[in-house]
Parts: sequence; structure tokens; C-alpha cells
Amino acid sequence: MKKISIKTSSPYEVLIERGSIEKCGEYVSSVTKSRKAAIITDDIVERLYADTVVKSLEGNGFECSVFAFPNGEQSKNLSVLGQIFHFLCENNITRSDILIALGGGVVGDITGFAAACFLRGVDFVQIPTTLLAQVDSSVGGKTAVDIPDGKNLVGAFKQPALVICDSDTLKTLTPDILSCGMAEVIKYGMIRDRKLFEMLERHNLGNVDEIMDEIVYTCIDIKRDVVENDEFDKGERMILNFGHTLGHAIEGWHNYTDYTHGMGVAVGMCLITDKFAPNLSERLKKCLIAYELPTDTEAPMRELLPYCSKDKKRESGNISYIVCGTVGKAEIRKTSVSEFERIMGE
Ligand code: GLY
Repeated sequence: MKKISIKTSSPYEVLIERGSIEKCGEYVSSVTKSRKAAIITDDIVERLYADTVVKSLEGNGFECSVFAFPNGEQSKNLSVLGQIFHFLCENNITRSDILIALGGGVVGDITGFAAACFLRGVDFVQIPTTLLAQVDSSVGGKTAVDIPDGKNLVGAFKQPALVICDSDTLKTLTPDILSCGMAEVIKYGMIRDRKLFEMLERHNLGNVDEIMDEIVYTCIDIKRDVVENDEFDKGERMILNFGHTLGHAIEGWHNYTDYTHGMGVAVGMCLITDKFAPNLSERLKKCLIAYELPTDTEAPMRELLPYCSKDKKRESGNISYIVCGTVGKAEIRKTSVSEFERIMGE
């Protein structure tokens, strides 16, 4: 097993081990005195892993209840959040009990936010089962739900008590969900780690499993470093948003339905790189294509820009965006929304 310690305001460990989901009860026991756990998941992950998690928790003396909502970004909303609160009340979850987020980014984000708010805060454990959730959303404490005005607009910083990453769970992912996570992995290579990017260039979606353990460890370690330096997203942490301002806009343009977050990030990275570092565009696109990710969008720029001006990375008329001029190095740039729109719209 590999461990990464995250030294944030509330420190915790990320455990990376194949098969760890079967031992989660033992690991959860080490971070709580309670023996009552509420597992929040989605209907697809429930079928795959809920029994294993419940068995392991019960084997370690936990009383468990399971709440599953329909899989997908459309569930990451205030209505499902209300259903989670109701479920926690019905099951008499108290402030000293523990919530378990079992699933991908949507499950982690909404469960983390429920944990931040319910009874003014209960502990929660992340058991991420997608690549995106393992390398990005389960670590760092960003939790949120979407509202009709935009993605992740209502949320809180709430660090988990523990993250349990079992890369065996990635074997059950469909190729498009694996691709989606690979967009974030490629992003890490671009912003911070030339060697990671070069390793990705030597592989593709068909054989990436060979390097999966190294990918998961490397990306979480990069995230650890960035989050420890800027837990509350006031500066350096913004580099993790490379490709995200336009990526979220593209997801929004597609009504968050037939377009994954990773596809949006992939295209977002390309649009920014085409504009600000065209010498790197071809290399970035070749790598994205190897992981079956898109590099362009049918959405007209003039229709994407209004979404960007609503993005939460905007501050009083200004917008921050990330440019990678060299593989492995990112720079945060800030400009007025109107100037950003002018440059991108050209
Ligand atoms: N997913 C970006 C961040 O955690 O800051």
C-alpha cells in the first residue's frame, strides 16, 4: 500500500492499494470512534460495490445504511442534497457518525457538501471509484452542487477524514469514463510534470492500465503539493483549472448531458493552448487523441463566452485563466472579462 499524507487545516491520508475497497471497514475504523456509517452512492456504483463496502464495514462492527441516487451530473443538485439530508435524519445519523462517499466525482462532491452542512459538519470518507475522482475530486476538499445558474456554484471546503483509492475499481469503467479521467491526468502532466506527460505520450487508452498505479500516485502527489500550498484556492491552486473555464462552458453549452467533464477539459485545454501557446497545440492534441478525447468543439466561441463570464473564477470584472507555455509549467493570467472575450473571440 502507498500512503500520501495531505497536510491541510484538517490533515488526512490517501491510501492507494489495489483491493483496498474490501478492507475499507478496517481503514474507516482508524479515523472514527463511531460504529455508524451512512454510505452515499449512485445506482450504478451501488450495484458494483455497495455490498463489498457494507460487508467490510459490518465486519468491523459498523451499522450501515445506503442511499443511492441516479448516476450522473444531473443528480448533483439541491433536490438530491435535500433527499440525502432526509435520509441522514431518518437513519438517526449524529454529528459523531461518518458518511462514506462511494463513487465518482458527483458522489464525492455532493456527499462532501452534505457532510459540510449536516448538523454543521460530520466527518466523511471518500472511496473514489473513477479515475477522475481518484486523481482529482476526492482530494483537496472542494465540495459542491450545481444550480441552474452554473456548475459547482454552491459548495464548501470540507476535507475528508480519509481517502481510499482502489485502482482495481477502474477496471469496471467504460472507456468514455476512463477517457474522462485521462483528461485530468494529461492536465497534471501539462501543468506540473513533463515526465508524466512523456510517459502518457508513450501509451494510449488501450494500454494505460500498465501505468495506472504510477499515474494515480503521481497525480495525487501533485494535487497534495498544490492543495497544501493553497488550500482555499486563492492563488496557486488555480493552476488545476487549466482548460476548465472553457471546459465548463462547453459542458454547459451541452446542458451537462451528452458531454463529460473530461471532454470539456480536453477541448478547453486545446482552445487556450491554440490561442496562447500554439507551438504546443499539436503535441497536446496528439496526446488527447491517444486517449480518445476531443480536441475541438462545434460550440461557437461567441456562445461559450457568456458561460465564462459567469464562471466562479471571475472576480469583479476580471477572469483568471491558465496557460502552459512549456510542458510541465503553468502560469496564471488575469485579465478583464471583456479583454478575455476579445482575445478568445478573435
Ligand atoms: N479540481 C480542482 C481543485 O481541486 O482545485
